[in-house]
Amino acid sequence: MEAVQTLIKADQEHLIHPLHFAKDNERPLVVVGSQGEKIHDAEGKEYIDGLSGLWNINAGHGRTELADVAAEQMKQLAFASAYSGATNPPAVRLADKLVKLAYPNTSAVYFTTAGAESNESAFKIARFFWKLRGKPNKVKVISRIHAYHGVTMAAMSATGMASYHKMFAPLMPNFIQVAAPYPYRWPGNGEPGAGAAEAVEQAILKEGADTVAAVIAEPVMGAGGVIVPPATYFPALRQICDRHNVLLITDEVITGFGRTGKWFALGHWGVEPDLTSFAKGVTSAYLPLGGVLVSKRVHAALQEAPADQRFMHAATYSGHPVCCAVGLRNVEIIEREGLVERAAMMGRRLLVGLESLRDLPMVGDVRGLGLMCAIELVEDRATKKPMIGPGGKAVREAMQRGLLMRIRAGAADPAIGDSICLAPPLMTPAESIDRIVSIVRESIIAATR
Ligand SMILES: Cc1ncc(COP(=O)(O)O)c(C=O)c1O
Repeated sequence: MEAVQTLIKADQEHLIHPLHFAKDNERPLVVVGSQGEKIHDAEGKEYIDGLSGLWNINAGHGRTELADVAAEQMKQLAFASAYSGATNPPAVRLADKLVKLAYPNTSAVYFTTAGAESNESAFKIARFFWKLRGKPNKVKVISRIHAYHGVTMAAMSATGMASYHKMFAPLMPNFIQVAAPYPYRWPGNGEPGAGAAEAVEQAILKEGADTVAAVIAEPVMGAGGVIVPPATYFPALRQICDRHNVLLITDEVITGFGRTGKWFALGHWGVEPDLTSFAKGVTSAYLPLGGVLVSKRVHAALQEAPADQRFMHAATYSGHPVCCAVGLRNVEIIEREGLVERAAMMGRRLLVGLESLRDLPMVGDVRGLGLMCAIELVEDRATKKPMIGPGGKAVREAMQRGLLMRIRAGAADPAIGDSICLAPPLMTPAESIDRIVSIVRESIIAATR
């Protein structure tokens, strides 16, 4: 106990956290161990990891196989540059595997170490592509309100949550945000899929198609509150992108690697993107790795680029052999154990369970696809007035009952009520799925009492 207090004191004195806020860290959760879908803290209390860490521990905790692969690879070759002119076997093997698993039109991958870096790379690849095609003015990126694409400068500028901008503005120029396909809160009577796709087209026309490089979209918006688009949205968006010669970037940092019940989520709607950003689930979080999958068309342009227009984009750890070796084994585990199909099945169980909470008057919306679900809280069902505040309390109530979950806080953007987000590991057994549902029920009741 003493040791934990010393650790917390040192944390408060010397560690700056993501989304740092000193008061939040007065009594931090000190996580020391994990197994399967559970983690435990320094006091030995066990929790269901209801968000898979940060939506990333797809294969679950405690996979010693991944630790062994990392150790073997480190002993053999800890690092080698993958800059043009050199390569290493794990990077090549993982690239080959991912191309086979991803969309039919996928041809190659550029590796990064995180989601934001994947999106930065995707924006640059889009600009590069159009410059090679003799369209140097196609530089703008259209994204959607409520999107989360990471918080490096360009990724933050595409992120559609004002709370992430406030203390870091101005955003980068050439980033435009439009309405999201948000069925629960779509204004008017129109069909939200067609309407939200139309909003993208209007933005392209307003900016001028000759200035727009790409549209970026999460297949299911994650941090923005697990917003699942109508089935009409992505097919319409693909057509709009084709009509105006704009690349479609799908940000699958959360939705990739089985989370929604498909390896990659645009598969639900039969749509193929030009670029796919990924990270998180590729290694189930055992090591940092991300990347951008590129289509045959974009890859062909890269392959043919002349020396004076070469791809001057890079990162020291692109194609890191240890991260790639772990990524490859993780993907093999997901395949071997049928975790993608499992996510679809357990996702249905979770969603059906959460639907049963609609008898609570403050539950406004219940939504999800595969093992990513959310419950949006409202003050009044008829007017859908957002409920802001109790979500955070529900998170604390759930913690006391042995469940870790996160909210998309309404305070960050008052147009949406607090939304409780759930995304447990893909291997989570049925009993834990059911336990999550009953803890969420108790926690919402306790938080709004
Ligand atoms: C959809 C999406 N894109 C990008 C990111 C940023 O990833 P990272 O935090 O690894 O930079 C996230 C992180 O949650 C995400 O959910």
